Amino acid sequence: MTKNHTLSFDDFDEVVNPRLLEPEFDHVVERALSRRGFIGGILALGSVTALTGGVLPATARADGSRFAFEAISTSTADTITVPEGFKTEIVARWGDPLFSDTPEFDPLTRGTAASQARAFGDNTDGMDIFSHAGRTLLVVNNEYTNRDIIWGDRGDAGPDADGILKGMMAHGVTVVELADGENGWQMVKDSPYNRRITPQTEMLLTGPAAGHDLVKTDADPTGTKVQGTWNNCGNGVTPWGTYLACEENFNGYFSAEDEAHEVSADLKRYGISAKDWGYRWAEVDTRFDVAQNPNEPNRAGYVVEIDPTDATSTPKKRSALGRMKHENAECVVNNDGKLVIYMGDDERGEFLYRYVSNNVYAPGVDTDDLMDNGTLYAAKFHDTGAGEWLELSEATTGMSKAEICIHTRQAASKVGATTMDRPEWVATNPNAPELYCALTNNKNRGIKPNAGGDLTPVGGPNPREANKFGQIVRWKPNAGDHTSNGFAWDLYVMAGNPDVHQDARAGSDNLSSGNMFNSPDGLAFDEAGLLWIQTDGNYSNADDFAGQGNNQMLAGDPVTGEIRRFLVGPNECEVTGLSWSADRRTMFVGIQHPGEDGGSHWPDMNDVPRSAIIAVRREDGGIIG
Ligand code: FEO
Ligand code: CA
Ligand code: CA
Repeated sequence: MTKNHTLSFDDFDEVVNPRLLEPEFDHVVERALSRRGFIGGILALGSVTALTGGVLPATARADGSRFAFEAISTSTADTITVPEGFKTEIVARWGDPLFSDTPEFDPLTRGTAASQARAFGDNTDGMDIFSHAGRTLLVVNNEYTNRDIIWGDRGDAGPDADGILKGMMAHGVTVVELADGENGWQMVKDSPYNRRITPQTEMLLTGPAAGHDLVKTDADPTGTKVQGTWNNCGNGVTPWGTYLACEENFNGYFSAEDEAHEVSADLKRYGISAKDWGYRWAEVDTRFDVAQNPNEPNRAGYVVEIDPTDATSTPKKRSALGRMKHENAECVVNNDGKLVIYMGDDERGEFLYRYVSNNVYAPGVDTDDLMDNGTLYAAKFHDTGAGEWLELSEATTGMSKAEICIHTRQAASKVGATTMDRPEWVATNPNAPELYCALTNNKNRGIKPNAGGDLTPVGGPNPREANKFGQIVRWKPNAGDHTSNGFAWDLYVMAGNPDVHQDARAGSDNLSSGNMFNSPDGLAFDEAGLLWIQTDGNYSNADDFAGQGNNQMLAGDPVTGEIRRFLVGPNECEVTGLSWSADRRTMFVGIQHPGEDGGSHWPDMNDVPRSAIIAVRREDGGIIG
């Protein structure tokens, strides 16, 4: 029997909550669209010149190329590969202590719960760099931990109670000051800003869900005081300089002693079941026993606001932004001052969302209000290239405001939003009012409904059945107004493999043997307006994925559509998380789960692979991005 902990988040969801229809793999053929027909049909709808006004940004080079590097080849080497003229250094690894009273990481024991609670968390994901009072602060999500690695010292015995807690403490968020010195960028031990936020950190639940019966528990009859955050995937930054950590696959941490225990349909929609994903948290904290505490899962799945400049501040779970498997939270201040936040719900067949604040942002305003009072919308894409935002209100859903913020998926199902191919990060172009979202893949497209029974028809921005490769959709709000309920969309790129396939699986015209990839996930624009694309895909380098090598990072020109590979990660990693130093001369990149299948020794080149943040610089010290 497959152990739950060896399953991906997505496959685990379907073990605990099987979809209603069975796949008929023998009959699955990607939709018979010719590559040429596809490009003519979709990309032409919103040509790049139409979307960007046809004006090359000021940073364009004389030769028309905006890339200041030569593309690199794929790689299956157990190292970081970057173009000539660039260099990398390791900044922080899983288990590196934030404080001088904490021991250095021990590759034999892999630490204790106590040491892990004061050390850099595991499996780095979304992150940002903040400049504050002359200091450089790194805030980074620690999404999850690989049980086979963190408990690798225990053999068949499995973890004891301290080991389970150690795994818990490896989750959450790390705040740490960085300084650039003789050894490059390093963590500043004992900085007053250093902080670990874990599944045990006290938080407030704010906004419409706060105090509702669905979020009350025996331990918190007020329904406002929540303990901790975990499985934080992508992130966001508010206009006022706080960090947003987005709770994604929060479900796999709950379980019940009786494996036959049945949870409610509302919990099932979020993948909650009696079976956990192998973390065993319910053994050390009954909060995670869903039979005893059926409302506890309603207190997770939010966007958490963290003030990195105050290590004593209480993080706030902002329920107004909805409850889902949040990927990231891309904040935009609209022309009229309203705060608009774009968010994906990363599960097969789930939706893309927008939040619009009631009030407007200006320096000094009550920012609690901006993130607590507003309206959620879910996206509907039409095949014509037009789209609309469907309001989630009492009138459109029959649900109360609090219910919409707790059962957001159910609300979006009621309004008939478009089921998507796993929306990952959303990024906004600094040079044009347009958004990009990575739709990473969806093997169920056209085959199985989502967890709520919504069908997943092939079409619109999800044009390929059993989509293995993923695509990036982009849209432009009507009249450049982010609060408009209308938008125009097209596909920026369809990933694929033109070496193996000649049909739609070859990908779009801006994909070739030289830059192909699968499963786009992390997205971020640099200040100059290049789109950086990070992958979390199949790294087998075989069959459909032959020639694609390890996971990678590429840069895309939003105007010309050109895409170049910039970095390839070590074996079995995902490349995720991206930020820049204030002077833009360092790019920080996250390397998650190297060696998740036992095939990497990176970065210490021993038997314990460790997720880590790296710094990338030009050898000539120039600006990068
Ligand atoms: Fe944690 Fe959707 O990636
Ligand atoms: Ca991701
Ligand atoms: Ca992913």
